[in-house]
Amino acid sequence: MNSVAADLLVECRGLVHIYRSADLEVVALQGLDLAVAVGEMIAIVGRSGSGKTTLLNVLAGLETPSAGTARVAGFDLAQMGDAQRASYQRDVVGYLWQNVAVNLAPELSVLENVQLPQLSGGKSGRRRLERAELLLAMLDLSTRYRSSIAELSAGEQQRLGLAVALANEPQLLLADEPTAQLDSMEASRLLADLQRLQSEFGMTVIIVTHDQQVDEHVERTVLIRDGRTSTETRWFAKDGTRVAEELVLLDRANRLQLPPAYVEEVGLRERVRVRLEEGRVVILPAKEPGSG
Ligand SMILES: Nc1ncnc2c1ncn2[C@@H]1O[C@H](COP(=O)(O)OP(=O)(O)OP(=O)(O)O)[C@@H](O)[C@H]1O
Ligand SMILES: [Mg+2]
Repeated sequence: MNSVAADLLVECRGLVHIYRSADLEVVALQGLDLAVAVGEMIAIVGRSGSGKTTLLNVLAGLETPSAGTARVAGFDLAQMGDAQRASYQRDVVGYLWQNVAVNLAPELSVLENVQLPQLSGGKSGRRRLERAELLLAMLDLSTRYRSSIAELSAGEQQRLGLAVALANEPQLLLADEPTAQLDSMEASRLLADLQRLQSEFGMTVIIVTHDQQVDEHVERTVLIRDGRTSTETRWFAKDGTRVAEELVLLDRANRLQLPPAYVEEVGLRERVRVRLEEGRVVILPAKEPGSG
C-alpha cells in the first residue's frame, strides 16, 4: 500500500469545499476522494455544477479546502502559508483555462508570453528563451514568435496557452474545458498535442471536459456527481482496439451499482443470473436462450 502511495502525485480524501457569502453557503465538494499517479493523464467529467472547476481551483492552490485533505507533490493544500502557496503555484502546477484569452497576456508577443511566467523563477534570460523556443517548436508556433495574440486563431491561442502553462515545467497540469471555445478540428489537435507533450515531459495531467474525444487520449475518466467522485472508466488497448472498463464501488453489503449503459446493452432486468467462472463473476440476464 505504501509503495502505491509514494507514486501518487495528487491525493484528495474526504475533500469538502464550501463557498460562503453573506447569506448563502454552497457545498461544492462534499467528501471527494481522488488519487492520481505520477505521470498519469486523466479526464474529469460531470454535469454542470457538479464541482469540477472547484476541484481544479483547489488543486491549483486558488481555493483553500474547507475540510478533508488535498496533497499534491508533498504540499498540503489545506495548510499552506502564503510563501508556500506562491512557490506551489509557480513551481508545481500549471493551468490552462477554458477562456482562451485568460491564459495569455494580450499586449505581449507570442514569445514574450512564454517567457513571462518564468521571470519569477530565478532562471537566466538565456534559459527562459530556450524553454520558450522548445515549447513553441513542439507546438508548431516557431514561425509566430513576434506575432501578437490577436493575429492567432483560437486554436493557436490555446496551443500558446498550453506552452505558457508548461513554461515552468510543472509536475501537474490542470486544464478546465480547454477545448470549449475551439472547433472540432482545433479541439482534436489540442488534445493530441497535450497528450504528446505529456508523454514527452511526463507531467501529470487532469483535464475537465465535456468533449467525448478526450477518451481517446486519457487512461482514465472519472465522473464527479454532486461534489463526489462517482464511477470511473479505465481505457486500455486490447487486440488493437480501445476497451473501456468501468470501476464501480462494492458497498459493505456487497451491493454493486452497474453502469446503466451495460444494463441496457445486455438487457438485464430485475432478477439476473450470477455465476462464478474461473476467478471471475459473470452476470447474465435471467432468461437467455439455452441457459438451462
Ligand atoms: N465563487 C463561487 N461562489 C459561490 N458558489 C460557487 C462559486 N463557484 C461555484 N459555485 C457553486 O459551486 C457548485 C460547483 O460549481 P463548479 O463551478 O465547481 O461546477 P462545474 O462542475 O465546474 O460546472 P460547469 O460544468 O458548469 O463548469 C455550483 O453549485 C456553483 O454554483
Ligand atoms: Mg466548470
